Amino acid sequence: MAGKLRQAVDDRLRLGVNIDHVATIRNARGGPHPDPLRAAHAAANAGADGITAHLREDRRHITDEDIDRLMAEIDLPLNLEMAATEEMLAIALAHRPHAACIVPERREERTTEGGLDAAGQHNHLAYFVDKLGAANIRVSLFIEPSEEQVAAAVKLGAPVVEFHTGRYAHVDGEQRAVELKRIADAAALAVKNGIEPHAGHGLTFDNVVPVAAIPQLAELNIGHFLVGEAIFIGLEDSVRQMRKLMDEAMPERHLLGASGRPAPGRTAPS
Ligand code: PXP
Repeated sequence: MAGKLRQAVDDRLRLGVNIDHVATIRNARGGPHPDPLRAAHAAANAGADGITAHLREDRRHITDEDIDRLMAEIDLPLNLEMAATEEMLAIALAHRPHAACIVPERREERTTEGGLDAAGQHNHLAYFVDKLGAANIRVSLFIEPSEEQVAAAVKLGAPVVEFHTGRYAHVDGEQRAVELKRIADAAALAVKNGIEPHAGHGLTFDNVVPVAAIPQLAELNIGHFLVGEAIFIGLEDSVRQMRKLMDEAMPERHLLGASGRPAPGRTAPS
């Protein structure tokens, strides 16, 4: 029984709550309210497994002081999203967060619009993956769910990848099924190569369940929708509802086996 309980806990898809947009609202007025740290505590109370924050080069939302405070005052693991630059590397090495997710960054973009070109940027990224890894920071690469990008992550020796779910989130019907399959196939390929796959971007109450049902995924990082929904139902309820929807996908995850291998007595669909 204890073994089964342990297995269930291990198999549970983790929820990382991205609090960037609490800082976006705060910065609109330049004062201290609403405080992203308070949001991190609320997310923790509501069942988040981690906090994610993106320190952008232009500091448009999260600030250096926010990172200092998050590192000092929250108990949950911090996933620091960062561009592959010397400035961000120095900040990550000074703080040593639990994880660092390397993301592409363009100043003119409104959000992180696509994944990293891990294949095309091998030489540039290798340096950051190595430095972060040597400091015991779990490095993740935010990439498109494609065979080419997973192969590049394998070559780089990244322990984690996060698949950009933006395309999936922004299409409907048959196109969405195609995008979902790309994510599922890339997640299976990652696990086959010893990489832990995560996913995020554009996930909402309406589209999260099929992604959460992909058995190989270990973590979802969700921000904009949760913060927006908090306006109507409060942040804790917003996180709780997302957690509940993710848990509803558990039976389907188990059908395939959370490690991506068929569970005993089951046959994986071909
Ligand atoms: N994961 C990464 C790497 C991100 O950069 C972001 C924000 O763009 C997210 C997850 C969360 O996306 P969203 O705010 O759309 O939920």
